[in-house]
Amino acid sequence: MFNLPGITYSALQALLLANVATAWNNGVAKVPPMGFNTYVISLASRLSRVKLMCGVISSSSSSRWNRFACNINEQLIRDTATQMKNLGFLVAGYQYINIDDCWLTASRTSDGHLIVDSSKFPSGMNNLTSFLHGLGFKAGIYEDLGTKTCAGFAGSLGHELTDARDFVAWGFDYTKIDNCNSGSYNGTNASRFQRWTNALTQVKAETGKSLVYTLVEWNSFDAWTWGPNTANAWRIYDDIQANWGRIKQILNQASFIGNYSNFYGHNDLDMLENGNGNLTLAEQRSHFTAWALAKSPLLVGTDVSKLSNDSIQILLNPEIIAINQDTAIGEPLKPFFWGKNPDGTNDPTFPAQYWSGYYKDTHHTAIMYINFNEVTVDLNFTLSHSPHLKADKTYAVRDLWQHKDIGTASKFFFSGSIAPHDVRAYIFTEM
Ligand SMILES: *[C@@H]1O[C@H](CO)[C@@H](O)[C@H](O)[C@H]1NC(C)=O
Ligand SMILES: *[C@@H]1O[C@H](CO)[C@@H](O)[C@H](O)[C@H]1NC(C)=O
Ligand SMILES: *[C@@H]1O[C@H](CO)[C@@H](O)[C@H](O)[C@H]1NC(C)=O
Ligand SMILES: *[C@@H]1O[C@H](CO)[C@@H](O)[C@H](O)[C@H]1NC(C)=O
Ligand SMILES: *[C@@H]1O[C@H](CO)[C@@H](O)[C@H](O)[C@H]1NC(C)=O
Ligand SMILES: *[C@@H]1O[C@H](CO)[C@@H](O)[C@H](O)[C@H]1NC(C)=O
Ligand SMILES: *[C@@H]1O[C@H](CO)[C@@H](O)[C@H](O)[C@H]1NC(C)=O
Repeated sequence: MFNLPGITYSALQALLLANVATAWNNGVAKVPPMGFNTYVISLASRLSRVKLMCGVISSSSSSRWNRFACNINEQLIRDTATQMKNLGFLVAGYQYINIDDCWLTASRTSDGHLIVDSSKFPSGMNNLTSFLHGLGFKAGIYEDLGTKTCAGFAGSLGHELTDARDFVAWGFDYTKIDNCNSGSYNGTNASRFQRWTNALTQVKAETGKSLVYTLVEWNSFDAWTWGPNTANAWRIYDDIQANWGRIKQILNQASFIGNYSNFYGHNDLDMLENGNGNLTLAEQRSHFTAWALAKSPLLVGTDVSKLSNDSIQILLNPEIIAINQDTAIGEPLKPFFWGKNPDGTNDPTFPAQYWSGYYKDTHHTAIMYINFNEVTVDLNFTLSHSPHLKADKTYAVRDLWQHKDIGTASKFFFSGSIAPHDVRAYIFTEM
């Protein structure tokens, strides 16, 4: 207990805590999880998602479906993990290989356990998680908190503890909990998901094993207010799609809620669409940079065997990943200047353009600028606009896409022209 003139300990503490979201700290996922997920979907709404899933999956709808959907099996997962290791993803930090919906059957055993679909996973989950661990990866698995998963398989409502125990017994390290078919549960949004928080807390007490807990809540747009006390990551928007318009909508949402995200509890902007749809390389760079610097989980959601070299180089950029995985600063970058729109504008078609945040310590600042215009622009901003840069200091500037030191900046920073939909990312180091 101590006092400063005019300020009590508790007032000081409240002041210090005001900007730090209180996270459910289960000892894992201090920094955002990175890895791969089998199942990304690119539909406008869950309704059409469920409809599509119950119908025939057209192989030609590749811009709507993000690769594997329900067509998963143990060989695909082994092959993907092997490829990711060979391509350098594992050493770059992508350590979770996550199985999404469709690994299970629609029923439970007579004593209430989930049943692995043995036509897709004939060797069983322990076999698969041992294989993944043997390569150096961690393993993730999906469930849904309702009566059925989004694809219609057995949901976890009323079985959370049984399922959490089985996930640990099967060797998993991570779980994603979805939100379909939860209409019969009458609690608040938070309490629906806290059934899993409680189950995972109990399983940790029983076994010592903490699972990373990521939750999916679309459309209600309040998950960040209770997410930090509930899970390691919470979705902040409806499902991502492989197009620039949806990427802008999600980033616009993220621009207002950076304060809720920090160590152990992360805003989840949804999976990475790099390699899917018709995203240009500039758009893929911007998408990856924005997700990484907003400190979202980074989960590759494409057929890794078909990724172009250019897309691979984007996903493996070590200087961008280092900011996402910074163990000293948990806060994401936040907008300091909206650019074309007045500051604070909520515009899903034209989000905030200038973002900053500390990196490693208060003498290093990460800066991101995205050109949402349809024309090439010159970037020139006043350093004092950013709360993370000082007007009276000179900074050494490193360009994180050119991988080069590009000189110094004081008072203003000027960069050359930036193509439409492209991004710049820098580290400014106080001299
Ligand atoms: C985030 O926190 C900072 C520092 O406490 C505060 O100045 C800012 O207004 C907050 N932003 C939002 C959007 O709440
Ligand atoms: C997994 O199952 C395969 C056969 O399906 C077997 O060859 C392999 O040895 C098993 N691996 C482990 C780690 O149990
Ligand atoms: C939720 O409320 C509805 C309407 O009041 C009721 O019919 C239903 O049984 C309730 N469900 C649960 C799981 O309590
Ligand atoms: C909870 O979620 C529903 C839909 O998912 C939403 O309509 C509602 O506003 C959310 N928030 C609260 C506090 O119930
Ligand atoms: C990509 O597809 C979307 C919708 O499918 C379309 O609006 C957009 O113009 C396309 N972009 C490019 C660069 O082809
Ligand atoms: C991609 O890179 C690999 C290894 O560097 C090389 O063997 C391959 O030819 C490249 N493919 C293309 C399409 O450039
Ligand atoms: C950048 O903007 C400042 C302030 O408007 C101006 O003084 C400076 O000349 C500009 N720099 C370049 C290279 O355009």
